[in-house]
Amino acid sequence: MRTSLRSLKLVFAILVLGSAGKGYADEPLAETQKVDGLAVQTYARQLSSQLAGRPLTVAERATLKAEGGAALPGLLKAWVEEPFFAKAFRARVEMLIGTSGERDNVDFNLPGNLAQYIVTQKLPISELLTADYCVSAQGEKIPCDTKAPFAAGVVGTRAYLMAHSGRFNLGRANAMMGAFACTHYPMSVTLQPRIAKEELISNFRISSPEEAQAAGSTGFGNGSACYLCHSQFAAHAQLFVKFDDKGLYRNEATGLQSKSLEFGRSDEGLFASHFVDAQRAADESSDVFGSKAANLAEGMKTLASNPVFLRCMVKQVVAHAFNLDSEASNKIKEDFMEVVAESLAKEDTTAQNVYRKVLAHDEMLKAFARGVMAP
Ligand code: HEC
Repeated sequence: MRTSLRSLKLVFAILVLGSAGKGYADEPLAETQKVDGLAVQTYARQLSSQLAGRPLTVAERATLKAEGGAALPGLLKAWVEEPFFAKAFRARVEMLIGTSGERDNVDFNLPGNLAQYIVTQKLPISELLTADYCVSAQGEKIPCDTKAPFAAGVVGTRAYLMAHSGRFNLGRANAMMGAFACTHYPMSVTLQPRIAKEELISNFRISSPEEAQAAGSTGFGNGSACYLCHSQFAAHAQLFVKFDDKGLYRNEATGLQSKSLEFGRSDEGLFASHFVDAQRAADESSDVFGSKAANLAEGMKTLASNPVFLRCMVKQVVAHAFNLDSEASNKIKEDFMEVVAESLAKEDTTAQNVYRKVLAHDEMLKAFARGVMAP
């Protein structure tokens, strides 16, 4: 039977569309059972290839045939223990944040090393953002390379900071929220309160086309209501104000707009703050999801302990397992991510367990089964 590609596409149609807000719990289970054998084999084939880097073994196929879906938790448990999984997770994290290799004498492998270490040491997946160390190619703990008085997981590396360096530190803030909170600007104000207008430099106070025109702005790039997005951006970008374009921590950074360089740049390879007050502009402390953060390290702790982080990891696991691009994975329904994230025990969030729980989750299988069944 030719099921793989077609059914994988269908899965996502199903995950995406769900049952139009009705939730998943009331889906009849009988439907799953009817297609059990076919759906489970196809599903298992995809997962063994992504997580264990190999096809199903004869023994695994026999187990699946005999036990159907009931065999999956056991198989998944074994796959995430295989050495390939640590490398697969590493590669996925590197892809998510666009770091790998070496250039300009900077080790772009530090984020990947940490990701791999988290798997081999069976640490919580949140350590991606909260690790207060970096990891060498040999898998040893080492200090990070930014010279900052703190570390902040994969984000606190020159690799991340250089890969996303840019005006107002917007790229750094945007990539972090996209990869680890699965949110984009503007985001819910319940999640991220806005910085008050009067605290921002005048360009970002603009909240209507009329104000934009009055300010002589032609609607910069993303429309004219700058305040809508940049009132939240301001908070996250501020955590990066002390890092220059080489990813190095510069205590003397002022966050002030350069007089000679383009909009958004500070002097000496640094970037401007959104804040208008000079003292505030130079201060890297900020607000993440309504909590005060003294610096990037604290900000990342807040992000990693917010429920959006695990929900986002659920989505990233699905995207990894089925090779979804960001456009497809952005359509995975919020309630699906929430249901699955809530099933994860807080004290049991190693990468291995997150993958196992997400991919063996009943809702995941049901969605997959519906996809295989659809004409
Ligand atoms: C819908 C949300 C949104 C609105 C509205 C918006 N921006 Fe942005 N802005 C973004 C995003 C997203 C980025 C890209 C960040 C990145 O580099 O990943 C960005 C980037 C920028 C940059 C940096 C560009 C660069 O080359 O690095 C500037 C400057 C900027 N915005 C100014 C403005 C101004 C001024 C306005 C109002 C006229 C505005 N933005 C309105 C979301 C928005």
